[in-house]
Amino acid sequence: MKKVLTVFGTRPEAIKMAPIIRELARRADEFSSFVCVTAQHREMLDQVLDFFQIMPDFDLNIMKKGQDLYDVTSGVLLGIRGVLKQVEPDIVLVHGDTSTSFAAALAAFYAGIKVGHIEAGLRTRNLKAPFPEEANRQLTARLADFHFAPTATSKQNLIFEGIPESRIFVTGNTVIDALFWARNRVMMLPQSVFSSALGRSAEVVESSEKIVLVTGHRRENFGAGFINICEALKEIAQSNPDVHIIYPVHMNENVRKPVYDLLKEVTNVHLVDPLEYSQFVYLMAKSCLIITDSGGIQEEAPSLGKRVLVMRDMTERPEALSTGLVKLVGTNRKKIVTEANKILNSDIGNCLVKEDAKLYGDGRAAFKIVNVINEAEL
Ligand code: UD1
Ligand code: UDP
Repeated sequence: MKKVLTVFGTRPEAIKMAPIIRELARRADEFSSFVCVTAQHREMLDQVLDFFQIMPDFDLNIMKKGQDLYDVTSGVLLGIRGVLKQVEPDIVLVHGDTSTSFAAALAAFYAGIKVGHIEAGLRTRNLKAPFPEEANRQLTARLADFHFAPTATSKQNLIFEGIPESRIFVTGNTVIDALFWARNRVMMLPQSVFSSALGRSAEVVESSEKIVLVTGHRRENFGAGFINICEALKEIAQSNPDVHIIYPVHMNENVRKPVYDLLKEVTNVHLVDPLEYSQFVYLMAKSCLIITDSGGIQEEAPSLGKRVLVMRDMTERPEALSTGLVKLVGTNRKKIVTEANKILNSDIGNCLVKEDAKLYGDGRAAFKIVNVINEAEL
């Protein structure tokens, strides 16, 4: 039996690793599966673990309020040393571009253990955007033995960097597996579940025709960027009184402070705490427009047929750009307002565009990844 150790620490990694963990568990006769969470995030990670019913075997519990990159990277590197010694896995799976992913890959490499990199090959080729994620994923690629690329474009990025083609597997992104799973669950949940999470905004979600869903957390947008974003949202809300903006605010204080300071008094802006995944999926499906700087939402929204304005100057997910579903607007106040108004002031039919579920995957990425691990010589 192959021994697989899956390591992750933040909300998006947990959502995207969950389908793999569930697939490994389903094939318990072929794999001995261990889960280690670093808890780079705490509350936002636990929400996902609860939703996907994942019980970690190890929890490094590293999160500190106001942690910096040194705290996270050293906490993971030192914390994982004992886990690797205890489990002695055949392979360590890491995801994407967080500091947890890079530090866990480095720890496995030091221990002479093979590394599988999920969501490999996304690139902007600008180490400052997104920061530090572009560096984290490039560094992880140098250490990985197996590269699970979500799309043909990400495979080409890896080949360009000299990764042997035989080590790259195009599987689709596991976020689409997770999204489909959550979407099915959402349909089975009673309405009251959503009402309790949204508080006084619940009624608005049900009755409003035009909802704008917003998220934001990128480090490079802290400071002036977030102030511009908030001012743009205020202008959109005030010039479109029929529109309601729902904004689940990330727990980082660098985000919460400007967002609450600048937006809490605006009547049609609804600030709520981070939502459980199924609730967020429900809201994406209900929205007319999504405005975000998130990576994962750029993949999910087009699969739900939703338009996205991305508050970044460049993206490592170019696939959706060419379809027109996703548009880069940076953190320029005027650009955000103009592009949002174009969509909000047009016909309601414009809120839903043609679904293209195949852009980032077909919902079977985890199955394909686990098959590769099963057949690999470790
Ligand atoms: C991290 C990742 C980023 C990813 C994002 C997803 C790095 C360097 N950054 O950024 O790639 O896109 O997660 O959201 O790996 N906090 C809480 N509770 C939580 C989560 C966060 O209180 O459950 C607060 C804490 O004060 C923490 C701070 O947010 O110190 C920042 O968390 P951190 O993981 O360092 O950075 P993110 O901006 O969340
Ligand atoms: N998400 C969620 N609840 C929220 C906001 C986002 O479950 O309140 C999900 C979202 O659907 C996506 C992921 O969290 O799958 C994105 O996480 P985040 O934006 O924090 O990180 P990124 O994708 O930018 O790394």
